[in-house]
Amino acid sequence: MNDAKINRRRFLKSTIASAVGTAGFPLVVPSSALGRAGNVPPSSRINMGSIGVGGMGTNNMRAFLTQPDVQVVAVCDVTTASNEYGHWYKKGWQGAWFGREPARKIVEDHYAQKSQSGRYKGCGAYVDFRELLARDDIDAVCITTPDHWHAIPVITAAATGRHIYCEKPMSLTIAEGQAMVKAVRRHGVIFQTGTQRRSDQQFRFICELIRNGRIGQLKKIITTIGLNNKEAPPKDWQPMPVPEWLDYDMWLGPAPWVPYHKDRCLYTFRFGLDYSGGQTTNLGAHAIDIAQWANDADGTGPVEVEDLGGEYPEDGLFTTATKVHFRAWYANGVELTCETQDGGPLHFEGTEGWIQIHKNQLTCYPESLKTSVIGPNEIHLYQSDDHHRNFVDCVRERRETAAPVEVGHRSVSVCHLGNIAMTLKRKLRWDPQEERFVNDEKANRMLARTMRGPWHL
Ligand SMILES: NC(=O)c1ccc[n+]([C@@H]2O[C@H](COP(=O)([O-])OP(=O)(O)OC[C@H]3O[C@@H](n4cnc5c(N)ncnc54)[C@H](O)[C@@H]3O)[C@@H](O)[C@H]2O)c1
Repeated sequence: MNDAKINRRRFLKSTIASAVGTAGFPLVVPSSALGRAGNVPPSSRINMGSIGVGGMGTNNMRAFLTQPDVQVVAVCDVTTASNEYGHWYKKGWQGAWFGREPARKIVEDHYAQKSQSGRYKGCGAYVDFRELLARDDIDAVCITTPDHWHAIPVITAAATGRHIYCEKPMSLTIAEGQAMVKAVRRHGVIFQTGTQRRSDQQFRFICELIRNGRIGQLKKIITTIGLNNKEAPPKDWQPMPVPEWLDYDMWLGPAPWVPYHKDRCLYTFRFGLDYSGGQTTNLGAHAIDIAQWANDADGTGPVEVEDLGGEYPEDGLFTTATKVHFRAWYANGVELTCETQDGGPLHFEGTEGWIQIHKNQLTCYPESLKTSVIGPNEIHLYQSDDHHRNFVDCVRERRETAAPVEVGHRSVSVCHLGNIAMTLKRKLRWDPQEERFVNDEKANRMLARTMRGPWHL
């Protein structure tokens, strides 16, 4: 290794240590120190690492593998290999294996097929994302870990100059989201939230119709989200031995230490409040994101939020809401509701019409809206038709993605506000500029959580 390479590696290691160790928030990384990780010359490939290669992470990785100007060089997962990703069985993927070794195999088989020799061995596989980030050849990362493991890898990746595709819901708490926004902006990296409806022509069209006043003044948005799609284990569930294929301590990471049970981890983490905001954030991050877009509220949020009868289980392993129902009001008078309704619609009501999307079918009044054309002098929203490709293009061209960090943060913030209102069971006033509840210290304490050491924001 030459001196420059050794220096760069030392630099990355110390930056990672200060990003996640005890030394506080990392210093600004000078782009000159970043070498190729900060800027990608137009002619070269973007080297990517995939952190979290379970159900969705493997999908994301496959999507990046198909980009001709991307090379997946490393994968990382605390699971070696497992076929216990229960949810996917329902989708007919019975027996499918995920984790870092299956992911490495997918990558190496993919490049082997493209090589003349038919052989390829060149994908690193790591248990600890800090080791992946300590490599000096990685330009961008795709983070598809459970929700409690988004903020720290994002902040660490940003501090080392890596561009980031991070799954929704972007954060576990509003404080995490704020720290992620700060890190991404401070280090000038490109960021895409995995809210792929921002790259869907139909959702864009609906938002453009609304933003251009085709249903008059927007008054009401009804968002619906699905039921918990996995049955909770019995209330007298017993701890299980940690399987040898899982680094459980690292899976828990910043979450409190609790005994292992298989229904805590793979896929089903989304029903445990220590790891997720439940369907409110899991599915709400998609539906409410479109509501925010249509309402021109990307840089802001509601001013009031109240519980309308949300329900949480009394005990058991699954702790997230079993019934979601809350309402939020925006300063422009728009009312948004979010409620559990399996397969329910997303509905927008204005003073002169309405638009609804239900199971990908658009219905509206007046009917003529369907063929309405957005004129050249009207509002045209960000155009992207492929969320992964959009990220790659934006890394190359150094421009804003379809779902930048503030958008991901503001959308999931509405979901977090809903969860807080449903927990406290009262109306809360929210200041979207300060991102604080007004005169409610109990609610304000719920904006952040203590992390299990040594992890911290
Ligand atoms: N955009 C979408 O439509 C969409 C769809 C599904 C899931 N997601 C999101 O993707 C994320 C993952 O969900 P999933 O269903 O794939 O869950 P999953 O349990 O199938 O996969 C998560 C993977 O992360 C691994 N992991 C946990 N901690 C880790 C760590 N510290 N370092 C590296 N790997 C770690 C797990 O071992 C597992 O393999 C969630 O945030 C979820 O909301 C998004």
